[in-house]
Amino acid sequence: MPHNHPVIAIDGPAASGKSTVGKLVARELDFLFFDTGALYRAVTLAALNRGIPIDDEAKICELAKQIHIDLIPSSQQDGRPYTVLVDGKDVTWDIRQEKVDAHVSTVSAYPGVREALKHQQRRIARQGRVVMAGRDIGTVVFPEAPLKVYLDASPEVRARRRCEELRARGEHADYEEILAGVRHRDAIDSSRATAPLRIAQDAVVINTDHLTIDEVVQEIIRLAKERQLVNA
Ligand code: DC
Repeated sequence: MPHNHPVIAIDGPAASGKSTVGKLVARELDFLFFDTGALYRAVTLAALNRGIPIDDEAKICELAKQIHIDLIPSSQQDGRPYTVLVDGKDVTWDIRQEKVDAHVSTVSAYPGVREALKHQQRRIARQGRVVMAGRDIGTVVFPEAPLKVYLDASPEVRARRRCEELRARGEHADYEEILAGVRHRDAIDSSRATAPLRIAQDAVVINTDHLTIDEVVQEIIRLAKERQLVNA
């Protein structure tokens, strides 16, 4: 029998393909796709917009508790997988800006921010069958997830992909700058004291450097069937 509310956890470093792959897996299996990075980005954007200094940990943790973040199915045809609302305002594209990229690792290292967002993530995930992409889904948020995948790729491949993504949206993208940013975020995400990026003991590691998106998607679907999360 398939699980009632299965969670497929997809963790991995920045730009390893979690969102692209997660979205497609969710669509094929008829699961919800939930990109948890959007919540950390929403808190970062709110802090920047309100002029709260990024190093003011107490104020940012307070902000994370106060703001209301919603993820709702998208009604727009502009490539978004869903709409992200902060206190009712659509910030779906704003949270992808480079200024958010530059500060989100700092914000997501604050234990108070992680605690505030952990509960929201669990609540949202309990609404149904869900593919969750993040850094600590398999290790902290849903350690009981019946399928955990860790997507990996070299910093160079990830930087190239992020560049292509930005350029496809008509935004400026400098490869060297983006590569430095990817490395910087890797260092912070892996070394933070609370919920650092690491591979869950029972995760399946997939290195995507030489795989196509479709190959990765099909491998995860095969694993989901093998573990009876969906009918074979
Ligand atoms: O996946 P992303 O690039 O949108 O993530 C943005 C930041 O959020 C990233 O620097 C790490 C953090 N993050 C996290 O700490 N835990 C998660 N579950 C998801 C994202």
